[in-house]
Amino acid sequence: MGNLSRLLKESWTLVEEQQDKVAGYFYARMFLSNPHLRELFPVHMDVQRARLLGAIVTAVQTIDDPERFDEYLRSLGRDHRKFRVEPEHYNVVRDALLEAFRTFAGEQWSIEYDQAWIDAYDLIARKMLSGAADDPNPPFWHAQVITHERRSRDIAVFTCRPLQYPLDYRAGQYVSVEVPRYQPRLWRTYSMANAPNEDNLMEFHVRALGAGWVSSALVRRIQPGDLLRLAAPMGSMTLDRKSTRDIVCVAGGTGLAPIKAIIDELTRYNRTRWVHVFYGARDRDDLYDLEALNQLAAHYPWLTIVPACSDDPGFPGEHGNVSEVVGRYGPWNDHDFFVSGSSQMVKATLRTLAELQVPSMRIKYDAFGDS
Ligand SMILES: Cc1cc2nc3c(=O)[nH]c(=O)nc-3n(C[C@H](O)[C@H](O)[C@H](O)COP(=O)(O)OP(=O)(O)OC[C@H]3O[C@@H](n4cnc5c(N)ncnc54)[C@H](O)[C@@H]3O)c2cc1C
Ligand code: HEM
Repeated sequence: MGNLSRLLKESWTLVEEQQDKVAGYFYARMFLSNPHLRELFPVHMDVQRARLLGAIVTAVQTIDDPERFDEYLRSLGRDHRKFRVEPEHYNVVRDALLEAFRTFAGEQWSIEYDQAWIDAYDLIARKMLSGAADDPNPPFWHAQVITHERRSRDIAVFTCRPLQYPLDYRAGQYVSVEVPRYQPRLWRTYSMANAPNEDNLMEFHVRALGAGWVSSALVRRIQPGDLLRLAAPMGSMTLDRKSTRDIVCVAGGTGLAPIKAIIDELTRYNRTRWVHVFYGARDRDDLYDLEALNQLAAHYPWLTIVPACSDDPGFPGEHGNVSEVVGRYGPWNDHDFFVSGSSQMVKATLRTLAELQVPSMRIKYDAFGDS
């Protein structure tokens, strides 16, 4: 372990157990010295009070190998423009962070620790700032909701269209979305459910998660005409057009969205690759897009859809978790895999694929939550 890294880890142990208080002090300090910064953060800061602090500490602790995180930090910097973060804010945040550490670490805090955090933070901030400065895209796109359809108790499918500039993305990617009218300054990621098209229409499939702030607004409140904000596309769960392997897609619930986009892209050029889609949900009501998938399968002979329900005894199809169902089919020796859904579903599917000895380099996945 390098000296810098040792100092960072050692000093963090002095405040680690008081993280909540450190976070409270950090934000209070930042907002007292720069009240206008409060406007950058969500209205309800109690929801994820320590989010920024936690993120910075994680980033700084990975300083051992900053080059490995170069692209991540550059894209994080690009992405911060959607929060309206300006270059001059970086020092304000750094100073508040150090004040909070000094206050809670007590006498054991040293000048060496101070310098270690400054060096590490500045290195990261430089990478973020250079990523932001090099980005030719706007910080976000305004998009208007065009259609909005409830498909089940808690799922909606809607389309929107970016207003000023086209938003270039690849099928399988996702964007951060803000609903300024109902949940200002809260951004969550959602996958596009179609490949880019000439109409510039982007489709999304969203499930409202309990009291979830953004998903509830997207499912229950927005209407055609409302404005959303979308940030730059991210994600690498995209098709390799050079691959000739057949394809297996495994989708749980609204995890279908990026898979549907990939199928949409395949409909434009594919003739030779067989595509199996395993589409799982709790009950048939939650298979909200099965009809559309079946229509596609009727039209494209290379496409097979296997629906599965985990909690619907009368369902005329496969029973069980979709991660188990995919294991009952096969063999899958020479296929490209795309897996998308809740963290739980993605983890279970990756386990099944590991048991089937599918090489991990053939699997692309996105988990809709902490994994
Ligand atoms: C790469 C990526 C792509 C995504 N694409 C999609 C998509 O296409 N469609 C889609 O519907 N979602 C998608 N998500 C999930 C989405 O980003 C949000 O996490 C989700 O909508 C919840 O946001 P929220 O603001 O409504 O909930 P929050 O306000 O963040 O959380 C509210 C409450 O719900 C609980 N909660 C959060 N997640 C879950 C969960 N999975 N199960 C049960 N309870 C939970 C939390 O503990 C919290 O108490 C994607 C996530 C990622 C990382
Ligand atoms: C080393 C510097 C920094 C790092 C590593 C960092 C990292 C992060 C990360 C990983 C997130 C979560 C992103 C997401 O969920 O989309 C985040 C959120 C955020 N960051 Fe930063 N950040 C840094 C500096 C800053 C600065 C200088 C500001 C300006 C005030 C800032 C403002 C925000 C805001 C407003 C959020 C959203 C918070 C929320 O939703 O509660 N960040 N940051």
